[in-house]
Amino acid sequence: MTTLAEELNPVSPEKLVVDAVSKTFRARRSAVPALDNVSLTVQEGEFVCLVGPSGCGKSTLLNIIAGLEKPDSGQVLADGKAVTNPGRERMMMFQESALFPWLDVINNVMFGLKLKPNLNHQERREVAEYYLHLVGLDKFLEANVHELSGGMKQRVALARALAPNPRVLLMDEPFAALDALTREQLYSDIQRIWQERRKTIIFVTHNVREAACLGDRVVVFSPHPGRIREQFSIPLPRPRDINSVEVAQYSGEIVKALKQYLPATPETVTANS
Ligand SMILES: Nc1ncnc2c1ncn2[C@@H]1O[C@H](COP(=O)(O)OP(=O)(O)OP(=O)(O)O)[C@@H](O)[C@H]1O
Ligand SMILES: [Mg+2]
Repeated sequence: MTTLAEELNPVSPEKLVVDAVSKTFRARRSAVPALDNVSLTVQEGEFVCLVGPSGCGKSTLLNIIAGLEKPDSGQVLADGKAVTNPGRERMMMFQESALFPWLDVINNVMFGLKLKPNLNHQERREVAEYYLHLVGLDKFLEANVHELSGGMKQRVALARALAPNPRVLLMDEPFAALDALTREQLYSDIQRIWQERRKTIIFVTHNVREAACLGDRVVVFSPHPGRIREQFSIPLPRPRDINSVEVAQYSGEIVKALKQYLPATPETVTANS
């Protein structure tokens, strides 16, 4: 049985391999090729950002990595084992926080810990409190979801995703609905939490500046069907400031690359939106 201390200790995050994954969504009269032969290796503890215009298959790829969706061909390997189902090793965080409105903050975070039968109620509460402290919500344990701002809801969602101590955190535009100032605060929080907890993070965003600020690596997708076109390594020291000249320079390079693959709708990807 794991102890509470082990429960809270960082574990070595697993290496993820996306191996030649293709996926087409078929309806009666149409077929939408979402991903075409996508291969990607994510190192242990790496922070990888996926950018690309709407419809290029970013969410589909995250869902496949999470085990929520099956590829038509190819596979995802986590520590050498094929991913076939969702599991608590890979937790997902979405654009909308998807909290349970009938539960207060602490119970929303404790809910995810029901997956861990080795913890009793008191231990689940301690783990939830630890993560709510990590995201700066100590004072809101008993608050109702409707009393929270959008940024606070995303913090609760982050604590809930972190609480089962997953090895990989999959984030699908988690800050897209927030105002710029709240996002900036969360950029520094997520970098601090990532450094403290050493998770592997795969982070989807439309916002190239955000990707350059957060990622060790930025992977550029093009649509119809979704393909990886280019990858940028971002070797800047951390914590990074989204408004720094260095982040802006990388962001400019990535936008330039993206525009090559955007024949019609360049407004879907911008450096700042
Ligand atoms: N369940 C589904 N059924 C049918 N088509 C789907 C389904 N999910 C996604 N698609 C299609 O697959 C393509 C890729 O979709 P996906 O949601 O992965 O893109 P995305 O890059 O996440 O886009 P966005 O940036 O808008 O979130 C799109 O053309 C979409 O319409
Ligand atoms: Mg998406």
